[in-house]
Amino acid sequence: MPPQLMLRSLSIGISILSFTGIGCTQLRDFETQSQDPPANSQTTSSPATEAPTRGPDVVYVPTPPAVVNEMLRLADVKSTDLVYDLGSGDGRIPIAAARDRGARAIGIDIDPERIREANENAQKAGVSDRVTFRQQDLFETDFSNATVVALYLLPELNAKLRPRLLSELKPGTRIVSHEFDMGDWQPEQVVEVDGRTVYYWVVPENPPANLRQ
Ligand SMILES: C[S@@+](CC[C@H](N)C(=O)[O-])C[C@H]1O[C@@H](n2cnc3c(N)ncnc32)[C@H](O)[C@@H]1O
Repeated sequence: MPPQLMLRSLSIGISILSFTGIGCTQLRDFETQSQDPPANSQTTSSPATEAPTRGPDVVYVPTPPAVVNEMLRLADVKSTDLVYDLGSGDGRIPIAAARDRGARAIGIDIDPERIREANENAQKAGVSDRVTFRQQDLFETDFSNATVVALYLLPELNAKLRPRLLSELKPGTRIVSHEFDMGDWQPEQVVEVDGRTVYYWVVPENPPANLRQ
């Protein structure tokens, strides 16, 4: 099955599970823990990850390593960059940006399990000093200090994000997206790698009004 169809059908399945309440287990667990903290807990400390406020907009499907490399190459990621991966999964894009290109990187994911996994992976890769993972909704996150943004979401999520990318990112910020385009915003480059498509844009000085909505 093509990756975009796999991502979409998995997302629909997860939405149904969340809707029927199956996705509430973690929330209930968190509420129980909050009411009854362990004896050695400090009231001032905050948990590394928290219960998700809502379900993900797209399920976790990892980008293959060759595609990760191509995304970083296309965006010309360097040690001076701050890379954001909006929906960072197991952290492979931020980790590769730090490990292979010396960049600083921030991964945002709404799923606490992914954040735990990504932190473990960053530690194993020895890049925890340059990579941070935040459990947040990417639509609520301030990513305005990014110099590079990586995406592997869905076409409608890219479209929803587009006005913010164009109005909040500095001109010259590079954006790469695995598999999905940005509607009317034409990419500067499109590259095929191992049957996957990678799109590349640069935020312009004065984005046309039709792209900012
Ligand atoms: C297709 S995966 C991509 C993972 C990673 N970027 C990669 O390319 O390997 C999409 C990720 O986005 C996360 N996600 C979905 N909706 C989100 C939201 N509203 N805010 C933050 N993360 C979200 C999912 O939990 C999942 O890990």
